[in-house]
Amino acid sequence: MTQPLVHKGKTRRALVTGGAGLIGSHIADRLIEDGWDVRVLDNLESQTHRSGRPAWAARYTDFIQADICDRSAVRAALDGVDTIFHEAAYGGYMPEIAKYVWVNSFGTAQMLEIIRDEKLPVRKVVVASSQAVYMEGAARCQRHGQVFPESRTLAQMTAGDFAVHCPRCGDVTVPIPTPENAPIGGQNVYAITKVDQERLVLTWSQQTGIPAVALRYSCTYGPRQSIFNPYTGVIAIFCTRLLNGQPVILYEDGNQTRDMVFVDDIARANVLVAGSDALDGRAVNVGSGNGVRVRDIAAAIGEAVCADIEPIARGEFRPGEMRHLTSDISQIESIGYKPTVVLGEGIERYLQWIGSQGDVHDYFAEAQRMLRAKGTLHRVTAATGGRTA
Ligand SMILES: NC(=O)c1ccc[n+]([C@@H]2O[C@H](COP(=O)([O-])OP(=O)(O)OC[C@H]3O[C@@H](n4cnc5c(N)ncnc54)[C@H](O)[C@@H]3O)[C@@H](O)[C@H]2O)c1
Ligand SMILES: [Zn+2]
Repeated sequence: MTQPLVHKGKTRRALVTGGAGLIGSHIADRLIEDGWDVRVLDNLESQTHRSGRPAWAARYTDFIQADICDRSAVRAALDGVDTIFHEAAYGGYMPEIAKYVWVNSFGTAQMLEIIRDEKLPVRKVVVASSQAVYMEGAARCQRHGQVFPESRTLAQMTAGDFAVHCPRCGDVTVPIPTPENAPIGGQNVYAITKVDQERLVLTWSQQTGIPAVALRYSCTYGPRQSIFNPYTGVIAIFCTRLLNGQPVILYEDGNQTRDMVFVDDIARANVLVAGSDALDGRAVNVGSGNGVRVRDIAAAIGEAVCADIEPIARGEFRPGEMRHLTSDISQIESIGYKPTVVLGEGIERYLQWIGSQGDVHDYFAEAQRMLRAKGTLHRVTAATGGRTA
């Protein structure tokens, strides 16, 4: 059922946490265009916003610059709000551990506690989860059909075997779209806190009766994706590398696949679930539904920026990363979602936006050193060859 924009004579009022960021700002813009009252809470995390409040956030006149962990600021931000789009999070492969848990898990838990304890009239919470919650993408084994393989082991990857094997017979599998009933768990601290966020929200929703949906986004990209953050956003990282005349570094062998989704599509999915009760109580994939090899993403960007620079694949890898992940998007499609922007067009739109941002610096090399020092980035020690499906 679709929920009306005007409820009890009042225009719907949203709080978008993380609303200065990539996804939050596109959600906020769409809501404003649809006639909602919008409040944004964002601490302007320095890793993402190195130049302070971004230009696009100037239109959010109801803007609270505060941390999601600041209890009184969050209480104030919730005042009069009927719908929450909870996007604020510490993201990517940053080396911290405690900060992820603090911002993502604690920050979410505290906000939910405030709403429950103060009996605030919130009617819906949409929380940003991630495809990172899965262990490995779903796969098909010739003998056993659909299987849900576990994460590849460090020993396997260190030996140069990047393939995903059938958990029952060990054969190499082929990837298939991952449905929401695939096992979740999270194989890095970010992913663990995304599991926390969706579980906290959905359990709280059951207990309080306040409807909620967790959207498991695929890799999202588009204008406003930070060009400063070298720890997240494969397209942003590849663009800044190539625009600086530097080769793209491919982890593993570059043949891993990802589901790349343009930010407009993610924003539209958020507004759709806010206006429908059909998916309440569920964790729902949102993506493009298509898998693309990471080396093909690099090639498409290279072509778009006319850079004739070969990517480098030197067997580096991040333990716990999935080999293949394409989302099965049939649940979200059932309420009218349809991805609209194909990868080539999305890359063009992102590059156009980067062109309007002045100097583009490459922070990646420095970040690599940090990740190696912290043990986040490993390297193959003995190539076995041929096990790379
Ligand atoms: N971009 C992706 O590929 C992707 C994929 C899956 C899930 N997600 C999730 O979607 C949400 C939005 O991601 P995004 O890509 O827009 O990232 P982003 O970094 O562009 O935006 C996040 C925003 O949250 C703010 N923020 C960070 N820590 C905060 C804190 N302690 N208090 C208040 N605000 C804080 C940041 O300043 C930023 O503006 C996140 O929850 C992220 O985990 C993103
Ligand atoms: Zn098998």
